[in-house]
Amino acid sequence: MKKDLLSVYELDLDDFDKIFDDARRLKKDFKEGKLHAPLKGKTLGMIFDKSSTRTRISFEVGMYQLGGIALFLNSRDTQIGRGESIADSARMMSRYLNGIMIRTYAQESVEEFARAASIPVVNGLTDLLHPCQILSDLFTIAEKKGSYKGLKVTYIGDGNNIANTWIEAAARLPFELALACPEGYDPDEAIMARGKKESPEGIVLYRDPFEAAKNADILYTDVWASMGQESEQEERKKIFKNYQINRKVLKEAKKDVLVMHCLPAHRGEEITADVIDGPHSVVIDEAENRLHVQKAILKILL
Ligand code: CP
Ligand code: NVA
Repeated sequence: MKKDLLSVYELDLDDFDKIFDDARRLKKDFKEGKLHAPLKGKTLGMIFDKSSTRTRISFEVGMYQLGGIALFLNSRDTQIGRGESIADSARMMSRYLNGIMIRTYAQESVEEFARAASIPVVNGLTDLLHPCQILSDLFTIAEKKGSYKGLKVTYIGDGNNIANTWIEAAARLPFELALACPEGYDPDEAIMARGKKESPEGIVLYRDPFEAAKNADILYTDVWASMGQESEQEERKKIFKNYQINRKVLKEAKKDVLVMHCLPAHRGEEITADVIDGPHSVVIDEAENRLHVQKAILKILL
C-alpha cells in the first residue's frame, strides 16, 4: 500500500484484499478476547474540522485496542485554526506522531498535508470523499453476502462524498453501481467520467430512484444535506423528497436486499423509520465494522 490512504481509487486489488483479510482476523481475535498490541508506543493524531461520532470513536478505540494511543485535535483549538500553514503543521507533527487522520472540507487540504508529512495520513472524510466508510461498507457486504463481486449496489440521494467514493470503489472492484440523484446534484463530474471508463461491471446514473433500485442487492443512502450544507437543508428537503428509501423502493430490489446508510440518518427524509429499523437494515453492523476495518488500515500503515 502507499504511505497514505486518501482515496479508495489509489488502492489496487491486493490492497483491498489485505485490508479485508486483516480486518477479518482482527475482528475475530477481538471477539475471542485475544489482545494484540502491534502499535504499542505509537500515537495517532486525529484532526477534526467537522463533527464526528463514529469516526472519532472508532479510530480512538482502534488505536487503544492495538496498543497505541490517539490524540483528538479539534482544529479550532490548535494553531491550524489560527492560520498556521498545512505544510508546517504536517512537517512538525511528523516529528511527534506516527500517523494522522484528518476530517476536513477540501480534499486538497488532506493531499497537501500528506505531501508535506513524512508519516501516513488517512482521510477521515472530506467534501469529496469518505474512503474509510466505503471500505467498511464493502467489508460488511462481503461478510453478509460472501462477496461484493457481481452484486448490484444502488445509491439513492445526493451526489456527495459517499456517492463519489462508491464510484471510486466501483472503478476498482467488480460490482455494478447504480446511482439515482436529482438533476443538479450529481456526483463529481471527473470522478464519474473516470469511473465510467474504468468500472469492470458498470456505473449508471439514473434520475428515477425506482429504476435504479431494480434488482438491487444493496440499497444505500445518505443525508440530503452534508456537513457544511446546513443552510441548504430546507431547500434540499423539497428537491430530494422523491429520493427516499422507503417500502415502495424496497419492493423494486431483490428479496434479500441489504439496506445500508453510513449514519447519521434522518428518519423520514432520506430513509423511512420502518426501513432503517427493519429486517433488511445492517446499519449498526456497518458502523461496528468501521472499527475493525480502520484497525486493519492503522496496522498496515503505521
Ligand atoms: N459515518 C460517519 O463517518 O460518521 P461520523 O460523522 O459520526 O464520524
Ligand atoms: N455526506 C455526509 C456523510 C457523513 C458521514 C457528510 O459529509 O456530512
